[in-house]
Amino acid sequence: MTKEDILNRIKEDALNQQVPIISDEGIQYLTQYIQKHSVHRILEVGAAVGYSAIMMCMAADDVTVTTIERDETRYLEALKNIKQMGLEDCIQLLYHDAFDVSLEEEFDLIFIDAAKAQNQKFFEKFEKNLSSTGTIITDNIDFHGLVNRDLQDIQSKNLRQMVRKIKNYISFLEDNTHYRTRFLKLGDGLAVSTRI
Ligand SMILES: C[S@@+](CC[C@H](N)C(=O)[O-])C[C@H]1O[C@@H](n2cnc3c(N)ncnc32)[C@H](O)[C@@H]1O
Repeated sequence: MTKEDILNRIKEDALNQQVPIISDEGIQYLTQYIQKHSVHRILEVGAAVGYSAIMMCMAADDVTVTTIERDETRYLEALKNIKQMGLEDCIQLLYHDAFDVSLEEEFDLIFIDAAKAQNQKFFEKFEKNLSSTGTIITDNIDFHGLVNRDLQDIQSKNLRQMVRKIKNYISFLEDNTHYRTRFLKLGDGLAVSTRI
């Protein structure tokens, strides 16, 4: 199997098992961002089966990715996928709840892609690990287009709560004077927050 075959198999399996992974547009943006800004050290919150970590790791030479996953089945699948791609030296996969992880290292890029209602908490927990010129990128900021809808038009209470939290996160980013955030309509929406 070529690397490309393995990547296609990872994506197909994720789709079949309903594991949410980043969109093609989203990962293309991240890959180009890594190359353009000479990103070396990446922290990812939410590995799932390792797809985005693998893609980020392959974006350029000298990239290392630390990624966190709390779900055991997904963690084991990610471990298998990383090994099959031969990227064990590039990716450090942590089997933990991100809120229980304490890291000392600094990262040039932090990619938040875990429980969407917790975005602000992840941001606030890990920004101390961001380098002085670093960037935090958050996925699913449009939440399947629901973020642009009026809350009263969303029937499900749980979904309404989720959308409310994402809207609050958007306001938190817009009001945060330590970062300049751009909201990109790529994939499911990306927020790109760079330290000022
Ligand atoms: C959208 S998926 C990640 C997709 C992956 N980044 C990709 O694009 O290939 C989100 C993952 O975050 C994990 N997750 C959610 N909350 C978490 C937490 N507090 N700590 C660690 N992992 C978490 C979920 O189990 C899920 O597998």
